[in-house]
Amino acid sequence: MALLVWVPELDTGIAEIDRQHRRIVDYINRLYELRSSPDREGLGDVIGEMIDYTVSHFVFEESLIESAGYMFAGPHKKVHELFTRRVIEMQTRFDGGEDVAAELHGMLSRWLFNHIRNEDHGYVDSAKVYLRMMSKESGHTAEKERLKAEVLQELELQRKKKGWLARLLSR
Ligand SMILES: [Fe+2]
Ligand SMILES: [Fe+2]
Repeated sequence: MALLVWVPELDTGIAEIDRQHRRIVDYINRLYELRSSPDREGLGDVIGEMIDYTVSHFVFEESLIESAGYMFAGPHKKVHELFTRRVIEMQTRFDGGEDVAAELHGMLSRWLFNHIRNEDHGYVDSAKVYLRMMSKESGHTAEKERLKAEVLQELELQRKKKGWLARLLSR
């Protein structure tokens, strides 16, 4: 595992989300640079800041997808929680004097890009419809109605998908 390099296919097209994801990547890269540094205090600070920032990103993302009515908002939150727990466990080991920087870096690097590709990309359509509905440009009544129809259509699509998934799982 080396420095993480952002590739355009990781972009969700939602500016704020992309900005936050890139900032998490910056933190992971800082951790990579410091991983074998003798400055444990500095390393501990980067780990702490990185966790804080990542958790605040999760909170932002969860509230966006919940408001957007995304079908998998609940499971998505669970995935975040599980990951947060693992990272905090590692931080505790670090605080206890263990040398976890390389292991932590490897885990974060693998997890983040996978999560963005496979899970974050899943909510993009729902979130975009919702954000467009919320944007200031949609002040016009006709436009609002059109967007409302679009949201309902998206929800209907999700409902169908959910039914399909439930049937698949009950086999
Ligand atoms: Fe996520
Ligand atoms: Fe995310």
